[in-house]
Amino acid sequence: MTIKEKVLEIFESNKGAYFSGEEIAQNLSVSRAAVWKAVKQLKNEGYSIDAVNNKGYCLSVYTDILSPQGIQKYLKPQYQKLHLNVLQTIDSTNVLVRQKAAEGEAEGFVVVANEQTAGRGRYGRDFYSPSGTGLYFSLLLRPSDYTADQAVRITTMAAVAMCEAIEEVSDEKPKIKWVNDIFLKGKKVCGILTEGSFGLENGMLEYAVLGVGVNVYAPPNGFPEELQQIAGAVFDCAQNDMKNHLIAAFNNHFLDYYTNPDKKDYTDKYRQYSLVIGKEIVVISAKESRNAFVHGIDDDCRLMVEYENGEKAAVSSGEIRIRL
Ligand code: BTN
Repeated sequence: MTIKEKVLEIFESNKGAYFSGEEIAQNLSVSRAAVWKAVKQLKNEGYSIDAVNNKGYCLSVYTDILSPQGIQKYLKPQYQKLHLNVLQTIDSTNVLVRQKAAEGEAEGFVVVANEQTAGRGRYGRDFYSPSGTGLYFSLLLRPSDYTADQAVRITTMAAVAMCEAIEEVSDEKPKIKWVNDIFLKGKKVCGILTEGSFGLENGMLEYAVLGVGVNVYAPPNGFPEELQQIAGAVFDCAQNDMKNHLIAAFNNHFLDYYTNPDKKDYTDKYRQYSLVIGKEIVVISAKESRNAFVHGIDDDCRLMVEYENGEKAAVSSGEIRIRL
């Protein structure tokens, strides 16, 4: 860790508290000049750090800047070993983590970005990822015993974990629109894209890259016109330290499921958060769109639907639209 990162760790764990340069220098066994330089660098990065004579330095409680140190302070002790990397901007966190996975990077490698210039969504779509208002991250997983069919569990756990994380940091009541979009007040606030690599011989998952994008705040000038009717944000206005808190809360919940999977537990929760059970929908496939009623969601996360002609089916892929 650099001196700047160590100073940030002290500030992030003690927001609103003053520390003299001497105190920090002694604590880190470095010179006061080195502390001063680190504080200056942090201020240049946008941290609001007060410097008061005879009191020292203090990081404002109102800071909302992503950093490994800021995330770590909310992570459960058993998840502190996540390998967190925070970047200002990148084309796509999923692309980078996939590259790292192919090069042999270990499970638990995470890339978080403040902005994506080529964010990817499902079905080759773009995922709008403007700077500063969202949270875009990818986590590398290497489960030892997942078949191709079981890989969907990762997305299921992630959708539930994101709903729980949003409930933990806000008063909101999120819902899951099958298969993996998180909705609040009728608008999509989070999308999940899980990409994987499978062994050709055994059909087992070699690795998965779990990519999550959240609109934490609405962009200052609003969403682009084509998204205005469909995209929303978790919060109307800026919150203290929310981005670090939300990503850590997600990882705490997700890793609880992932490291100790109880399929019934997370699929029951998935059903509880569902936006579509009991609703009239349109099932959209490559060749047709059919009206249907959703009776439920089974333990493999398939939609149990009944089409207008009375035919019943378990839908495992594709897209749906809720009919109003
Ligand atoms: C969707 O809604 O279709 C899925 C969107 C997934 C977006 C996230 S943002 C972080 C990660 N990197 C990407 O390029 N995509 C995922």
